[in-house]
Amino acid sequence: MNRRIITIDGPAGAGKTTVSKTLARELGCVYVDTGALYRAVAFEIERRQINWKDSALLEQFLACLDLDFVMEGRDPVLTSSGRDISAYIRTHDISMLASATSAVPQVRKALLGIQKSIAEERDAVFEGRDMGTAVFPNASYKFFLTADVNVRARRRFDESNASGIAFEKILEDMVKRDADDTQRAVSPLKQAPDAILIDATALDVSQVVKKMKSTIIVA
Ligand code: DC
Repeated sequence: MNRRIITIDGPAGAGKTTVSKTLARELGCVYVDTGALYRAVAFEIERRQINWKDSALLEQFLACLDLDFVMEGRDPVLTSSGRDISAYIRTHDISMLASATSAVPQVRKALLGIQKSIAEERDAVFEGRDMGTAVFPNASYKFFLTADVNVRARRRFDESNASGIAFEKILEDMVKRDADDTQRAVSPLKQAPDAILIDATALDVSQVVKKMKSTIIVA
């Protein structure tokens, strides 16, 4: 059966998560956060102290990795070896490590199956970096959501003010992450030719969702 798959790609801090969740809820689809998969890999690498630059060790590690999306409430929750790890994967260090390790082709390949299998079971909004280009080239609707880097860094700073990290550091790391994500050789962050570009620099969530819904044929 052909599922309705909507992809939302774009750089960090553009508002993809809130927009994707809202859109999914309004369309009656599930929301899938694929960044969580890359963060989970980084989390497990950190926790198990894996030398991920050694490709044989990385291969072994990936073969043992047990990630799963489990339906809990409205949207699937990512588990690692049956454990909900969502509370541990949003730190600044994990963000940076996830960006570095997501550039490794073995890591990307290992995560493909889990993303595709969820799309076979449910209509879904997938949020990520390469959803419309690499994972779901035939998606029903594709969006590329971006915003000025200063605005994105300011949002992240406002969200993480308890962490004590200075705005300048968040901005600097965001510029680095953008460069890493867009310049990597495999599945770099880029707009799919048939994706609709939305610049959210001066738009709030409801305005972005409204724009998206105006192009989607509601079943
Ligand atoms: O969306 P996020 O910030 O949670 O993603 C964390 C990192 O994972 C990000 O720096 C790039 C990587 N990522 C990716 O390479 N491909 C995806 N589909 C999603 C995330």
